[in-house]
Order: sequence, then structure tokens, then C-alpha cells
Amino acid sequence: MADTAEIRVDGQVIELPLIVGSEDERAIDIRRLRNQTGLISFDPGFANTGACRSAITFIDGDKGILRYRGFPIEELAEKSTFLEVAYLLIYGNLPSAQEFEAFESSITRHTMIHEDFKRFFGALPKDAHPMAVCSAAVGALSTFYPDSLDPRDPRHIEISVHRLIAKMITVASYAYKHSIGQPFMYPQNDRSYVGNLLHMLFGTPCETYEADPVVEKAIDLLLILHADHEQNCSTSTVRLVGSTQVNLFSAISAGINALWGPSHGGANQEVIEMLESIHEEGMSAKQFVERAKAGDPGARLTGFGHRVYKNFDPRMKIIKKACFDVLEKLGVRTKLLEIAVELEEMALKDEYFVERRLYPNVDFYSGVIYSAIGTPPTMFTPFFALGRLPGWIAHWMEMHTDPDFKIGRPRQIYTGPALSPYVPIADR
Ligand code: CMC
Repeated sequence: MADTAEIRVDGQVIELPLIVGSEDERAIDIRRLRNQTGLISFDPGFANTGACRSAITFIDGDKGILRYRGFPIEELAEKSTFLEVAYLLIYGNLPSAQEFEAFESSITRHTMIHEDFKRFFGALPKDAHPMAVCSAAVGALSTFYPDSLDPRDPRHIEISVHRLIAKMITVASYAYKHSIGQPFMYPQNDRSYVGNLLHMLFGTPCETYEADPVVEKAIDLLLILHADHEQNCSTSTVRLVGSTQVNLFSAISAGINALWGPSHGGANQEVIEMLESIHEEGMSAKQFVERAKAGDPGARLTGFGHRVYKNFDPRMKIIKKACFDVLEKLGVRTKLLEIAVELEEMALKDEYFVERRLYPNVDFYSGVIYSAIGTPPTMFTPFFALGRLPGWIAHWMEMHTDPDFKIGRPRQIYTGPALSPYVPIADR
């Protein structure tokens, strides 16, 4: 196979090297393009642009393959835990029993937040969206921990990474508690990571909260499935913001904001709202699918379509199965799951969706599980953020050790006015 590509332009032929990844993905290395030709590449939405080399996650969107550090998502979902997956993503290997114990213990012992930080939540309106609160709070962590902000210092990185994973569950829980006017719950060191999250979310000082093992396992699974997805929008945001050498907390705060959008992680909240509105309006799945096909972006079938997956989203398959299992084990019956299944079936045989290779994605069924365990829709995307955190961190760390590391700075094709003389205000 060729190891260079040729570009013919203005009578000149430029040879550009090809880069090959460990799964034989190929790219044209255009770094010399502008110097040699004065041209830049143009790729809105970066659909054809590789921004970096990365050894964290492999996706084959045509075959529906997703692997973290070489391990298939199906196997991790079945055999691993979220904290172990977090370790895998961040450090590059599955931990030994001893390494895992040290990691888990460090995370557990960093979950408490500074007492003064509690006032931060109280200063925000009660109806603030928890994603806005989480993003602001994670950004504010840099003000409480100025001793660990240097992205070039390995010790600072280690401490800030552990602090962030640990405190993120506390931050998300406090965002929720503030919204419903309940007291903040302190984390408890004898609980698991997800057990602590559920305790801080659903517990009250009035009685001891015992997490249902079915619920705990379901949330752990959902966090694993969301833990990384290579160069998606929020991860690319973390990399771009992080490329300025800003501290970890600030880069992740930007990633949380990117995730909130309904085309990205915010879709999980939109899906449940869509299912509820179909239910309330008594619309049939067929009617809704017809509306989604009309081309109005506001009426898209949320939870369908993906930039990379063009066959099926392997995470969706696992979540759909978990959805049925969890609802059955909890004895919850919901019309929303029936509507979701009907919509999926209808869309999968509809020419519009088939032609465009639109399939249900990770967000299509996750909200049904979150709802069944009593989580309000505004907390769905914060759950996604909790899951994606180790992925963001792993990419931020990888970027800093990449020999090709550079500040991110795309170019543009200017389409504005030509050189114009300034006219004084009195003469306009
Ligand atoms: N419903 C109806 N039509 C759709 C949908 C949908 N959900 N998604 C894409 N299309 C159509 C789109 O209108 C376009 O049609 P045409 O070629 O006639 O103009 C075609 O399919 C290609 O769509 P696109 O917008 O160019 O595709 P994209 O790769 O730029 O966007 C997407 C991917 C996920 C933003 C999009 O599919 C979408 O908006 N889906 C709904 C929101 C959603 O579920 N987002 C979660 C994504 S998965 C989790 C995550 O990564 O955060």
C-alpha cells in the first residue's frame, strides 16, 4: 500500500506522507501543506480531520466496535467496574489488586469538598440546570486547590486527577440537593464510589440510605459505557482548551459545557422529554417518526444518529438489555420504554433512517433507566459527565506527553468585506 499521497495544484505536485494507526486506519499528514502550497484544508465539523494520535480508545463505526485501551466495551461492561475502567483509561493498563486498592482508597478519601465550597452552591438559583452548576463548580475547584494546577508537574497532575474524580460525585450531588432544597450529605468512606454518589443524591440526614444493589450496578454500568469515546465534541473541547496549558479543572469545566448541548450529551434529557411528550399528546410512534423526517432540526428523533456509528452503537445494545433487566428487577412498569421500543422499530425500517444510516445511540435508552431509579431528567446529563470524566482526563494527560503537542488553533477561509476605508461617524 502507498505510504504517500500526491496533491496536484497550480501545476505543482506535492507529496504528503501517510500515517497508519495500529488498527490500519490511514491519514494524510497535511502538516506541510500550507508551507508548500499556501493552501489550507477545509473540513467543517472536522468530519475528516484527525487532530492527534491517541492510544486510548478505538472505534470502528461501520462495524460497531468500541474498545478502551484494547478491551472490548462488551467485556468491560460485563466484568469490570467504573473505577477500574477509570484507572485503565487514565493509566493505560488494568490495575493489579494492590494498585486498585490504592487508587480506590485515594479517590474515596478525596470525596469531601472544602466546607466553604458549600456556600458556592447556595449562591446559585435553585432552578439552575445542574450541568451549569457542575461546570461552574468544577471551574471553581481551581480556586480551592491552587496547589495542584501546573499541568507540567506530574505530582500536581496526580493530585488534581484524584481530587477531580472524587469530588465530581459530591459536586453533582450537591447541585441536585440544592435544586430540591435538601441538606447536602457528606460522603462516607465505607461506601463504594457509586454507592456514595447514590447516598449523597438520595440520602437524607433523617435516615440511613441503603443503595439497592440493582440500582448501584446499573449506574456503574452506565458510567462504564460513557467513560470514553475518543475525539467527540466535549473531549476535543477539553483538548483544545487544555492545549493552552490551563489547569485540569478549567479544561474539564469547558468539557462539561460542551457535553450539555442537545446534539451531544444533553440528548439523554431530550430523549426522555420526547418520550414523555409523545405519551402525553397520545401521538403514535409512526406520527412522530414522520415529523422527525420533515427536516426540521427541532423535530429530530433525539437519541438517533451518530457522527461515527453508521451500523449500530454497541453501547446502545448493552443499555437496551440493561434497561429491560433493571426495570424487571425493580418491578417498574413504564409506558416510556414501550414507546421507545416502538419508535426504534418504526425508524429502523423507515427508508429515511435506513438511507442515512441512522441508528439509536447511547442516549436512546439510558434515560429510561435513570427515570426508573427516580432521577429527574435534569440530572441525566450530569450522570453522562460523571461517566465521561476519566476519558476527558486521559485525553488531557495524553495530550501533554504527545511529542506533536501544540496549542490548538484552526484556520479559516475569510468571506467578509474587502479592505474598507473607515468613515467618521458624522459622514455615515
Ligand atoms: N433525526 C432525524 N434526522 C436526522 C437525525 C435524527 N436524529 N440525525 C441525523 N439526521 C439526518 C440529517 O437531517 C441529515 O439529513 P440530510 O442528509 O437529508 O440533510 C442526515 O441525517 C445526516 O445528519 P447530520 O446532522 O449531517 O449528521 P452528523 O454526523 O453531523 O450529526 C448527530 C450527528 C448525532 C448530531 C445527529 O445525528 C443528531 O442530531 N442526532 C440527534 C441528537 C442525538 O441523539 N445526539 C446524541 C449523539 S450520541 C451521544 C453523544 O455523542 O453525545
